[in-house]
Amino acid sequence: MIRIGMLTSGGDCQSLNATMRGVAKSLYKLYGGEVEIIGFEDGYKGLIYADYHAMKSSDFSGILTKGGTILGTSRQPFKQMRVPDENGLDKVEAMKHTYRKLKLECLVVLGGNGSQKTANLLHEEGLNVVSLPKTIDNDLWGTEMTFGFQSAVNVATSAIDCIHTTAASHGRVFIVEVMGHKVGWLTLHAGIAGGADIILIPEIPYNIDTVVEALKERNRQGKRFSILAVAEGAISKEDASLSKKELKEKRKNGIVYPSVAYELGAQIEEMTGQEVRVTVPGHTQRGGEPCPYDRVLSTRLGAAAAELIRQKNYGYMVCIKRGEISKVPLEEVAGKLKTVDPDCSIIREAKMVGICFGDE
Ligand code: F6P
Repeated sequence: MIRIGMLTSGGDCQSLNATMRGVAKSLYKLYGGEVEIIGFEDGYKGLIYADYHAMKSSDFSGILTKGGTILGTSRQPFKQMRVPDENGLDKVEAMKHTYRKLKLECLVVLGGNGSQKTANLLHEEGLNVVSLPKTIDNDLWGTEMTFGFQSAVNVATSAIDCIHTTAASHGRVFIVEVMGHKVGWLTLHAGIAGGADIILIPEIPYNIDTVVEALKERNRQGKRFSILAVAEGAISKEDASLSKKELKEKRKNGIVYPSVAYELGAQIEEMTGQEVRVTVPGHTQRGGEPCPYDRVLSTRLGAAAAELIRQKNYGYMVCIKRGEISKVPLEEVAGKLKTVDPDCSIIREAKMVGICFGDE
């Protein structure tokens, strides 16, 4: 009998359950009744504080289409992992202790950037770890696609679709603020899919004059409304040229906006005299059911993770490269961000159809 630990860590997404199901069903197929899966509650927290339960094969039935995570999740910042908790507990030692006490063969981690760093840390500490790439941000280095991303693209695109009709009726400028943390993948894809006129992402700092000129040009062409898809991490050229300290100082002394979309909205209203509305779909982008693409990706990645366990091939994150499922060493993934290359072909193609990125 082998025992496998499993946890979901960091911000949730639509396809976590589908992925766990992929891992579990494949393990049951490979090992028959000779495998037990231990589920840790709320991510690494469950591993630190030995909060877990033995899972049954029936737990993994009927969850392919269910969003969220049946194990619960939490954010346990990587930076804090080496810092003892309020009771002086050494978290890394505690995780190793739980793993050894349960005599786990391997720990399966479903997580994004921070979670992959902790997975690598545990691997370096001698635990057998296999991880899977989760995040709606698609910013994990080493994989072309993360599970959760395409489902979030669907939600953000529907938000932009819905805005179209109301924007057209009122002849307004609408800003839809899209998640994505420090990268622009989600905004770029949802913006193109939703037919946004202007897309602003962190990787291409914008010039407000260019944005305003694009809006005026639409007016000159007789267009009644405009839609901007703006990443939550979008930044102006001016702000991008400042040091962290200078930016902090600037923000301290200026008007405090809830987010970049509101700041832009105020600037656009002032510079164009047009009526602007801001829509923030927020966490709806992580909610609902996984889209078919994610269900397939999750199933494939889950099966590949189980296969790595069967081969006792540890210390890897499963990934997808050119449509094929593969693996990448955790030490290569940890601490790297996959950002949008401003010169990549998707940006060039978007510009070809007239989308403005605020840069030229
Ligand atoms: O990483 C996923 C994500 O949804 C980001 O796009 C966003 O910046 C962040 O998580 C929000 O985090 P929280 O759910 O902790 O507010």
